[in-house]
Amino acid sequence: MTSDREAQPPTPETIVRRPRRLRGHVRVPGDKSISHRAILHNAIADGTARVSNLGPGDDIRTSVACARALGVRVDELGTHAYAVHGRGAGGLCEPDDVLDAGNSGTTARLLSGILAGQPFLTVLTGDESLRSRPMDRVIEPLQMMGARALARRGDDYLPMAIRGGDLRGIDYTLPVASAQVKSCLLLAATFADGVTRLREPAASRDHTERLLAAQGADIAVAGQDVELRGRRPLRAVDVDVPGDTSSATFWIVAACIHPDAEISVSGVGLTHGRTGLLDVLDLMGADVRVTNQRIEGGEPVGDVTACSSRLRGVGIGGSLIPRLIDEVPILALAAAFAEGETVISEAGELRYKESDRIAVVAQELGRLGVRIDERSDGMVIHGTGRVDGGAADSHRDHRMAMALAIAGLVSRDPVEVLQARSVTISYPSFWDELQRVSQD
Ligand code: S3P
Repeated sequence: MTSDREAQPPTPETIVRRPRRLRGHVRVPGDKSISHRAILHNAIADGTARVSNLGPGDDIRTSVACARALGVRVDELGTHAYAVHGRGAGGLCEPDDVLDAGNSGTTARLLSGILAGQPFLTVLTGDESLRSRPMDRVIEPLQMMGARALARRGDDYLPMAIRGGDLRGIDYTLPVASAQVKSCLLLAATFADGVTRLREPAASRDHTERLLAAQGADIAVAGQDVELRGRRPLRAVDVDVPGDTSSATFWIVAACIHPDAEISVSGVGLTHGRTGLLDVLDLMGADVRVTNQRIEGGEPVGDVTACSSRLRGVGIGGSLIPRLIDEVPILALAAAFAEGETVISEAGELRYKESDRIAVVAQELGRLGVRIDERSDGMVIHGTGRVDGGAADSHRDHRMAMALAIAGLVSRDPVEVLQARSVTISYPSFWDELQRVSQD
């Protein structure tokens, strides 16, 4: 299938050359995960919430558009500032057309949880990538709670049709650590009779738990277990969205692997479930400092400064994986500059992201001269200390496009990023920032 994006010739900024120096202070856009929740949680709350520094990417526009299609008024107040007029627990309306979650797995999964609590019919679809990502992980437990949901290929793939209402709490162990699944079920649980108990095999990001608690939900978290008693009204909560942790990691790694670099990123979200890459960089010996740690809008944030570093290879698996699940493309690039091998294992979930990030990382960084062996649940990256350059394709995966662009900042020859526009999913100003920090 050819899309408008594919049909466009490469624009000049898709070719990235190594600058002499990397310097600068960056403010990354509002966090994508928290932005989705700020819109969707407040859509089912009583009252009006003000959301500032909302993420500017296409995925967040998608969540806003879906909320509006369900009858929620969302007003733009200023740059990245919105008012969400909540409809309360029973106030959403049946949409008169199919809802399109675009490329956004988080919209599709979180919205499914909300829709499971609604007595009307919704049909939900997504783009080609999202239609190939598994939905049975949410459909099965939602059916156990009492929702009627049907989807393609044995209730696994979008489009799906869902008619909810009359939910009951469940006791459920998630087969994989997934904040999207956990959040979907917690949102559904707010509409359910009784208590829902969830258990994760490893801890994933906790933005949903934090926001639900602030909204007055009857929620208790103990390690990897979370419990929520349903049918308590949620109140609207203002959210000042912190800087996106995952977006920040591109600049942090760029600074670590460039020979003459210092970049600082301020106001970065630092909740434990998102800081796996910072922990790994520390193990690798990177020169990264976190300062000015504080709580803003119920989330821990801080300023991060990274400088040119000598890295060593490490082994990564287990409970670290969910804490860096979105950072593997950029981590693989960092590992190419480390001394020795880096082994990433127990990361099979990467195959179900915006692209199959095990295959695509191995193939596309491989095209640039990085030596990577693909494994079923991860990869081995051989630290050679160099990237040759050339052309590589993002497969329309925003994090791949950005990782390939950062490879261009440190490669011998320029890197041409194909399908580079996908950065707009989470970071529309990425290319401008890249130019700003590159100095000759
Ligand atoms: C997200 C959770 C992660 C992550 C995704 C955003 C979220 O997915 O990969 O980009 O906002 O909850 P899983 O928790 O399903 O691994």
